[in-house]
Amino acid sequence: MEKILVLDFGGQYDQLIARRVRELNVYAEIRPYNGITPEEILAEGYAGIIFTGGPNSVYDPASPHYDPAVLKLGIPILGICYGHQLLAWMAGGEVCTAAEKSEYGKVTVSVKKPESILFTDVPAESVCWMSHTDYISTPPQGFRTTAFTASCPCAAMCDEGRKLYGVQFHPEVTHTEYGTQILRNFLYGICGCTGDWSVEDYAERTIEEYRVKLSGKKVLLALSGGVDSSVAAALLSRAIGSDLTCVFVDHGLLRKDEGDMVERTFGSGYGLNFVRVNAQERFISKLAGVTEPEKKRKIIGEEFIRVFEDEAKKLGRIDVLAQGTIYPDVIESGKGDSAVIKSHHNVGGLPDVISFESIAEPLRDLFKDEVRKVGTMLGIPHELVWRQPFPGPGLAVRVMGEVTAEKLSVLREADAIFREEVGKLGLENAPDQYFAVLTDTRSVGVMGDARTYGYVVALRAVTTDDFMTAEWTKLPLEVLERASGRITNEVHGVSRVVYDISSKPPATVEWE
Ligand code: XMP
Repeated sequence: MEKILVLDFGGQYDQLIARRVRELNVYAEIRPYNGITPEEILAEGYAGIIFTGGPNSVYDPASPHYDPAVLKLGIPILGICYGHQLLAWMAGGEVCTAAEKSEYGKVTVSVKKPESILFTDVPAESVCWMSHTDYISTPPQGFRTTAFTASCPCAAMCDEGRKLYGVQFHPEVTHTEYGTQILRNFLYGICGCTGDWSVEDYAERTIEEYRVKLSGKKVLLALSGGVDSSVAAALLSRAIGSDLTCVFVDHGLLRKDEGDMVERTFGSGYGLNFVRVNAQERFISKLAGVTEPEKKRKIIGEEFIRVFEDEAKKLGRIDVLAQGTIYPDVIESGKGDSAVIKSHHNVGGLPDVISFESIAEPLRDLFKDEVRKVGTMLGIPHELVWRQPFPGPGLAVRVMGEVTAEKLSVLREADAIFREEVGKLGLENAPDQYFAVLTDTRSVGVMGDARTYGYVVALRAVTTDDFMTAEWTKLPLEVLERASGRITNEVHGVSRVVYDISSKPPATVEWE
């Protein structure tokens, strides 16, 4: 399989670069710049290398540099933004760090004649996306400038003989009008790729691979009903059928009808051994009287492991634990900030408590959108494949204060109404995450001629790319109006609905 190396220098669009390359049917993988040597690059047979952007300045000794031997491997290189400047610096050019102002946003880029292969089918002038302060003032010997902007004399350069290319702008960002064409030119015109990668083929190959790898093994998967573990379950069930057992722990903190939906989907039709553990009582009794958010989370995490352990024991022999780890989880782990991010993604601590011969992670090379494609291909229902994220501790972090069966039931109804109303906007226009929260405040209302004293429900909707920062979504007022009207009318015990207009930071997405 042809593959492209995305050498990561800390840019904010690194994952996007790899995704764009894959969308062009060439497999791409991201490696940190200090995680692979030029010899290893050669040995792994990469068809091309992309140096990513990054926030640094090349002359700063603390900035990420790379062994110049990479320039002599004969493998085509495309430097983007910082990668473009690094390429110039490594090859002996000059980078100006004294620019008076930064060039940021949409800028017109002009292509110079004779046109570089990188700009095949790109007009003489087009819009590109810039985000830099330093710029290349003198390209290295053997290079020529192939594009410029009003304030960037070397917006692109190349040494065609050595197949070294650089662009100051970001072709991976959709604001760059011909960005896809430029990447296509690099992959097909310069690296000589033929485009032998597709998610569908990859999924078929992975199924075959795991059929062989897991032959004769008993595999256990903790199925949460989220996108990743559901797709991992469907894929492994195609590979090993009844040797896979999926344990779905219903902790009673799920949204309306969610447990039944997961059971309906996986309990029949996939030919897999599906175990639903109804542990609602166990969780609710452990949570009785607990109001402190972190304590609630800890209790749930701990209890989850205990329930899972009990089930694993009942099943007898289990050789392999399967997980729905996806590529961004793997990349984040490599960056060393895994502690925070991983605890959100995986069922914390599982591999430590029960001993397994190995761990199977069939989705570890795929991005979320690719995982969704595989899910669709394997026949997982649309509403499950396109689910918004849902926290492991479930509604316990959306019921403020003590979690009780009654509060959970009120929240479930209110949340279902809100999601139904927002859902009418269609997938394209829906926020990235939206849900209801049951506050621990009560407020006075009037219904008929009587005074009421009921719960205050807060509605939350956010727009985000990565959930690390998020903006509160400006939902159409009619949606809020309908949701509020329906919740106060249809959900017994709610007297007031408010809308959360805080972004992250300083607030977080979840209330607890
Ligand atoms: P916060 O509240 O940290 O949420 O801004 C960011 C994203 O992570 C989700 N989230 C969790 N996901 N286990 C998870 O699997 C958790 O404990 C957890 N806490 C928050 C949250 O829903 C949002 O998408």
